[in-house]
Amino acid sequence: MRLSELLFSQGFGTRRVCAGLVEQGLVRLGERRCTDPSAEVDLSAGPLRYEVQGQAWTYHPRAYLMLHKPAGFECSHRPGRWPSVYTLLPAPLRQRPTAGKVAGVQAVGRLDQDTTGLLLLSDDGAFIHRMNAPRRHVPKVYEVGTRHPLDERQLERLRSGVVLDDDPRPVVAAAAEASGERQLRLTLTEGKYHQVKRMLAAVGNRVETLHRSRIGGLSLPAELAPGQWRWLEPSELDLLRP
Ligand code: URA
Repeated sequence: MRLSELLFSQGFGTRRVCAGLVEQGLVRLGERRCTDPSAEVDLSAGPLRYEVQGQAWTYHPRAYLMLHKPAGFECSHRPGRWPSVYTLLPAPLRQRPTAGKVAGVQAVGRLDQDTTGLLLLSDDGAFIHRMNAPRRHVPKVYEVGTRHPLDERQLERLRSGVVLDDDPRPVVAAAAEASGERQLRLTLTEGKYHQVKRMLAAVGNRVETLHRSRIGGLSLPAELAPGQWRWLEPSELDLLRP
């Protein structure tokens, strides 16, 4: 692949901007500065590391990321009252092209503004679709702080199914265990709008805090602080397959 095309594919701007970055000597391939936008880059020799304006990057044909979503951010490109989670990512990840158009990475499902925890993002439409497909039943684990003490009746109702206001079919929790008097670990395999909050309201309680700790077999790493993101390892992608 030509160097300027590679930079374009990774979100560094239009083809002209990418060629300009190279011509101005702002791109390094490994140890060496490269000023020819047409230089052929060998992608077969293991992970390609490069630098743009002093910032180190590794080439990724597709982007698969995890973000520790902090409270106070919306999972939207056009947020209302709160800043967008996409502002937590560097510009190239927000500008990666899909089918030649700037599209950037997209969140795999949404978390509410006040929900924290594991959020996946990708520019692979098929992956996003697979992860969101209701038939796939990818389990998601939520740590829920409740306003009122939990009792066995509420937990049993969450496990056996509650009816929400938009569908007569009951929604069930795959697991619901109290981890404290007002603390609950809830596993869901669907992703309805405000599902945790609505399920807790349906059993007469209320969500005070909500944190997603796991998707499929992938847990939010303890070392990833709120607001931080990182690339997913191939082995972590495997953990997301049902
Ligand atoms: N359920 C909710 O109610 N909110 C979230 O952010 C995620 C699941």
